[in-house]
Amino acid sequence: MSTSSSTGAEGVMEGSNAKRGHWSSRLAFILAATGSAVGLGNVWKFPYITGENGGGAFVLVYLLCIAAVGLPIMMAEVMIGRRGGRSPVNSLRLIVERDSLGRFWPIVGIIGVIAAFLILSFYSVIGGWAVSYVGTAASGELVGKDADAIGAIFSGLVSDPGTLLLWHTVFMALVMLVVARGVSSGLERAVSILMPALFVLLLVAVGYAMTTGHFGEAAAFLFQPDFSKLTTEGVLTALGHAFFTLSLGMAVMMAYGSYLPKNVSIAKTSITVSVIDTVVALLAGLAIFPVVFANGLEPGAGPGLIFQTLPYAFGQMPMGSLFGALFFILLIFAAWTSGISLLEPLVEWLEEQKGMNRTVSTLGAGIACWALGIASILSLNLWSDVFPLGMFSAFEGKTIFDLLDYLTANILLPLGGLLVAIFAGWIISRQALENELNLSAGGFALWYNTLRFVTPVAVAVVFIYNLA
Ligand code: PHE
Repeated sequence: MSTSSSTGAEGVMEGSNAKRGHWSSRLAFILAATGSAVGLGNVWKFPYITGENGGGAFVLVYLLCIAAVGLPIMMAEVMIGRRGGRSPVNSLRLIVERDSLGRFWPIVGIIGVIAAFLILSFYSVIGGWAVSYVGTAASGELVGKDADAIGAIFSGLVSDPGTLLLWHTVFMALVMLVVARGVSSGLERAVSILMPALFVLLLVAVGYAMTTGHFGEAAAFLFQPDFSKLTTEGVLTALGHAFFTLSLGMAVMMAYGSYLPKNVSIAKTSITVSVIDTVVALLAGLAIFPVVFANGLEPGAGPGLIFQTLPYAFGQMPMGSLFGALFFILLIFAAWTSGISLLEPLVEWLEEQKGMNRTVSTLGAGIACWALGIASILSLNLWSDVFPLGMFSAFEGKTIFDLLDYLTANILLPLGGLLVAIFAGWIISRQALENELNLSAGGFALWYNTLRFVTPVAVAVVFIYNLA
């Protein structure tokens, strides 16, 4: 593969990307990036952390983080990927070598590979919950059950390590299967049908939620900020979740950007992906909280929240077994496309750096990740009172699962994102950025100043506050 500068002529893209191919269109990129972004983060994590952090004020901070931190960083990642035209670590290397920018920056790619590996280990366990609920819904078990009985089904699942292991294994195998075969165009087509379908079923769930009589209360909970409920840790969680839900800070968008044709607007596509991702999360919130309030459930119930509420909703609505099973199938699909993007960076790295073939590297990475997932499974039951870092007050009461989630979403991803912002905002030349982004003068200035000043300061301040 030839190295080439990516500024200017069309021929350049042909030259450097011909072998790797590129997305057939802007839509294809949007589908793939949305496939990575929309996942358990939107439907599972957003509602439960919103519940734990008291609602409105947290949601507002989260939305601000998406707009002022997430979106500019997404644009920067896509831009770096497209400019480098390779896998993230090598794109970063190429850019720094070509313009003599120092040897430090490829570390961003390495942080990303580590974060992705750790995230996938527990992501797959939660993906396994979704797999398990397909059968639960389809069998009619949910029909007419009250909230307590629905809660008992969930407790039964998480207290049983064997069953959790089975579904975790199934989910990880699904991810490995696709990654081993190379991410195919079939997936692109599947995303274009199944994502809109998930959207429609979320609307069905929201429709049911409107009949509970508590929709207004839920909307107020989500959208009326009460700052007395917001803690500094809540702000960090909101920031970390902005990275998690947009798949940022771990070079995924860099990898995808490397396939993006030159004539496509990075700003427009990034905005589209961020808006879709945010709308899906808010819809999930609107589907879940009315059910929570209607049944006197606890909004801060934690990671089980959606599995204690949506199944109840499906048990109450007409044709609920069908809708419920379909919903969980689509949720698995959304989680699957995210899981693929989590395994891909490590596999690519093993191929490039260790010269392994794709099958071997997928098996190695996948099995290691699966094995680590067992620790998260056990921390839901047998090890539920093992707190490995409990001696530090910041980590008091955090199980292995909680720690993995905290370390990745609240530390590694924001750190990776901070480095991306500094690299793009302060290290790469302004000229190169202008060429790559091709924005109006005003649009460019807005992005550039946000990335240089607002983003790094926001991340740094939130970090420092939480350390102190
Ligand atoms: N964005 C995905 C979600 O919301 C999770 C993810 C994080 C995927 C980081 C890739 C990278 O579920």
